[in-house]
Amino acid sequence: MKITEKIKQPIAFEMDLFEKKFRLAMSSKVALLNRITHYIVNRKGKQMRPMFVFLVAKMVSKGEVKDRTYRGASVIELIHTATLVHDDVVDESNYRRGFFSVNALWKNKIAVLIGDFLLSKGLLLSIDNNDFDLLKIISVAVREMSEGELLQIEKARKLDITEAIYYEIIRQKTATLIAACCSLGAASVKPESSDVETMRKFGELIGMAFQIKDDLFDYGSTAIGKPVGIDIKEQKMTLPLIYVLNTCTKKEKKWLINSIKNHNKDKKRVNEVIDFVKENGGLDYAVSRMKTFQTEALEILDHYPDSEFKEALQTMVNYVIERKK
Ligand code: IPE
Ligand code: IPE
Ligand code: MG
Ligand code: MG
Repeated sequence: MKITEKIKQPIAFEMDLFEKKFRLAMSSKVALLNRITHYIVNRKGKQMRPMFVFLVAKMVSKGEVKDRTYRGASVIELIHTATLVHDDVVDESNYRRGFFSVNALWKNKIAVLIGDFLLSKGLLLSIDNNDFDLLKIISVAVREMSEGELLQIEKARKLDITEAIYYEIIRQKTATLIAACCSLGAASVKPESSDVETMRKFGELIGMAFQIKDDLFDYGSTAIGKPVGIDIKEQKMTLPLIYVLNTCTKKEKKWLINSIKNHNKDKKRVNEVIDFVKENGGLDYAVSRMKTFQTEALEILDHYPDSEFKEALQTMVNYVIERKK
């Protein structure tokens, strides 16, 4: 059995129903909007965020989900989709989920508005159903994601990133939303329980590992459905490069910074930088940090009684760092 099938097994019913609800949640009366949202849902991603919502909800409640668990999952996937549409504008990326990005097909103006539409649909789904406790969890994540993306841009401009700032960026731009999935999953079934905070922490840790993995893909050459090798071109400094900058000689550092600052569109030079990072242990270091986050996440799960949901979450944690896309 494929690892993703194994993870989905205890939530197969919920994921099926979720997909139907999610499609409905995207609909609009405007024809152009509908055309584009259809385009988006027909190229669905891995749906890891709703999977986290349902698995956590079922783990902490011994198998129960509520209507608001579904709504929470839809809101999060809507917001995730909105941020991807906006992120591809910000990153000038023409490729997403194995096909053209929204900005590539309909241009930036429309992509910005589509992202706003999806975000507002998400927020309204919570408001219209009085899920205000869940909305609060989600809104914090939305704010932090914007802050994270902006902090990343600020650091790319100055090229003065440290390892600590890198963790702050990925915590905000990626880990917060996965943290929100897990705390929302718990809150949807056990609103006042300590599980809400415990699961937030769990999600944050695995979210950190998730983004380090995503940044490692950029140094690879496998097809992952979106561009690789673009981070340096975008002057985005991720963990493998940060580590190497902190451990190389002064002369090498000068060469690296100069390459990123002034030669970031020169393919040959960028490849030299990538090779340098690989030869100097940058990837190995990032892998080891990713595994530390993974171990900490697994430790949190240890405190829960054994169940098929806990087992699926453990498998999911391992999938995050072993996945091929
Ligand atoms: C991509 O997330 C954005 C990041 C936070 C790295 P996913 O890899 O979960 O994207 P999809 O939904 O599967 O396409
Ligand atoms: C992902 O940022 C985080 C958000 C979308 C907020 P990236 O730019 O690193 O992700 P990909 O690689 O385009 O999916
Ligand atoms: Mg991007
Ligand atoms: Mg980005």
